[in-house]
Amino acid sequence: MKVRKDTIYKQFLAPLLNNFLIDKEAIEDFSHSIDWEAHSDRLTNPNLVYPKYYSSQNFHGNEGGYLTITAAVTYDPITQYALPPNEIWVRNSLIDAVQVKPRRILDLGCGTGSMTLMLKEAFPQAEVVGIDLSTYMLACAEAKAKTAGLNIQWRHDNAEKIGFPDASFDLLTVALLFHETPAKVSRQILLESFRLLRIGGQIIILDGRQKTLRQTDWLMEFFEEPYIKSYARGNIDAWLGAAGFGAVETQDLWWLYQVSSATKPLLAQDTDIRAEVNHNILDCDDENNFPAPAY
Ligand SMILES: C[S@@+](CC[C@H](N)C(=O)[O-])C[C@H]1O[C@@H](n2cnc3c(N)ncnc32)[C@H](O)[C@@H]1O
Repeated sequence: MKVRKDTIYKQFLAPLLNNFLIDKEAIEDFSHSIDWEAHSDRLTNPNLVYPKYYSSQNFHGNEGGYLTITAAVTYDPITQYALPPNEIWVRNSLIDAVQVKPRRILDLGCGTGSMTLMLKEAFPQAEVVGIDLSTYMLACAEAKAKTAGLNIQWRHDNAEKIGFPDASFDLLTVALLFHETPAKVSRQILLESFRLLRIGGQIIILDGRQKTLRQTDWLMEFFEEPYIKSYARGNIDAWLGAAGFGAVETQDLWWLYQVSSATKPLLAQDTDIRAEVNHNILDCDDENNFPAPAY
């Protein structure tokens, strides 16, 4: 008989979170404060087709992935423990990396909007847009922004192909998304980001430190992330370079995170060069598409 092996998350972390660390009553109150049907009617993009990598997988052990109310309302209470030593410090590292004076900011895979709200607070004059594939996550984001009195646009969209014209933004942010997407999808998202940025615009990516994850199998098993190994094997600097970005730089944050920054160079005006870059990147296979990083 085949015995299913439960992950560390299911065996230890989920019971610990459920029984001791998260305030179930507060979660229920928050959930009841949202009119899910009204949000869904308003936010749902009828033309959006969910990519298979997303709709076919559980994330963090949640059946249905992010396409459930439970996943959305438990995301923030769990995430505060998933980003040691302190969620706000970790998120502030992305804000600290901003080098442009943004007028239009796009936060990709914004989830419940924790990062998006911080961006709007840091750059109150900027127009800020958050996109996500889950209307449940967006409904939470919208509720949080309303409570905080922040004017942010929330859109149900796929970061691989977003319904904005070229050069619409001067700052693009990607927080905690790429460890949850297959490497090939992350690279497609970077190509789309390149299209959406103005010349001189900046992209900043905050996520788990790839080098650490590569060396710690147990950490990768911890949160039940279906694509984290594909993320860990990759190299964000190489992905950014291949998408056409310049001034690529990744800073380690403690041992656990990395913050990558890059800009859209002047050369990007040359459409022939872009076409060549795009051709190269899409020809790559999903895993070892670039030479192994030199560490
Ligand atoms: C781990 S959460 C990160 C949320 C948020 N950025 C944060 O910092 O807390 C990943 C989010 O990305 C969304 N997502 C995954 N693939 C996406 C895609 N292709 N386009 C847009 N959103 C996506 C998921 O629905 C989920 O809300």
